[in-house]
Amino acid sequence: MRKWKLGALAAVLVFAMTACGTKDADVKTTPEPTVTVAPTTTPEPTATPEPTPTPKPTVTPKPTATPIPEFDKGIKDVYAEYGLKAGTCMSEFMAGDSRSLEFIKKNFNSITFENEMKPDYMFDQEASKATGDLVVKFSPATEKMLKWCQDNGMAVRGHTLIWHSQTPQWIFYDNFDDKTGTLVGREVMLARMESYMKQVFEQLEQKGYSDMLYAYDVVNEAWLDDGTMRPSFWRTTIGDDYLWHAFYLADKYAPEHIDLYYNDFNEQFKTEALYNFFQTLKDEEGNYLIDGVGFQAHLYTMDDMDLYFRHMDKIATLGLKINLTELDICLGKYNDIGYATDENKRIQGQWYYNLIRGIMDRVEAGTVKMDALTFWGFSDQLSWRKEYNPMLLDKKWNPKYAYGAAMLMKEYAGFEE
Ligand code: GLA
Repeated sequence: MRKWKLGALAAVLVFAMTACGTKDADVKTTPEPTVTVAPTTTPEPTATPEPTPTPKPTVTPKPTATPIPEFDKGIKDVYAEYGLKAGTCMSEFMAGDSRSLEFIKKNFNSITFENEMKPDYMFDQEASKATGDLVVKFSPATEKMLKWCQDNGMAVRGHTLIWHSQTPQWIFYDNFDDKTGTLVGREVMLARMESYMKQVFEQLEQKGYSDMLYAYDVVNEAWLDDGTMRPSFWRTTIGDDYLWHAFYLADKYAPEHIDLYYNDFNEQFKTEALYNFFQTLKDEEGNYLIDGVGFQAHLYTMDDMDLYFRHMDKIATLGLKINLTELDICLGKYNDIGYATDENKRIQGQWYYNLIRGIMDRVEAGTVKMDALTFWGFSDQLSWRKEYNPMLLDKKWNPKYAYGAAMLMKEYAGFEE
């Protein structure tokens, strides 16, 4: 009897352990605290488009092997030594989250709104219908974040005026109504574009925010990886020269101190198209209407860094400024996510370090004119690509090698001791 009981107990234990083991293997990630983040755009495929990656089981995150210390200075203090601002994107969530704001104030002195200066936060449809002109009205979130930046001495990158995405369709329609109207023609849309640019820069001035803006993405993502122009309603209504007009009009209304940028992703695969395009952005006297090129730098640890620097060096020969505008470095590659292992995080730290070191070397040598390097966030928890763990802090906000690398501290950047 006793023997039978022991046997049964053992069987129950074996069963329970097996069940636990199975369960552990099935658990993919520790659920992360949900945060409310504003809608972001759908990630775009890189040069070699592949089917959506099959998610692989991830390993349970472990604390990093080498503890990264609490640095007593921030990323901004390190970059100031090279004459650069250090930037981050900021979402409406971060703007109300004290932990985020504390990290931002310590590390950054430039802000790009993740969504809140995009076209879908900038117009008033009812007022447009009533007045017959495209009426610009900053959303309450935009106003609140501009005020925070001003109160906290932040510089701001305006992002973005002309984009195929996150732009209300009604602005392209007769009577500002995409339900009943038809698409307007070239002259009407050019007039709307002019009014839009004029009002944006006028309102920034009237509200007292103009001075803190140092750069503005006039156009975002107008070129495809194959070197052709991306379809958009701006292009359909105005024609292929809508890009020239966008820069011409921005140049007409933006104050002198705000640099005008073209901003794009997968930039290293578009060198020739972009190089040729920038040379068309000139006025009648041959002067550039554009001041700088935003390299979004949504990168992967399996990307080719030499190719990236070849692209940067080629664009730099045009004499335009270059800013990294949305830097994040994902583990693995687009169609092959890397696990958050210590080894992969070391590779990521080294990638960040070598990239930023290579940039600072060029800045010091005077071959690249850069005045700001902006990260697209700071914690994996809040990143738009969180499944790739691309940021400086992990999902629990522990500093990663990537943070040591962003601080240009090689000893903490994941290189083997
Ligand atoms: C692009 C845009 C950014 C943002 C990201 C996703 O890179 O330029 O504004 O939408 O996609 O967050």
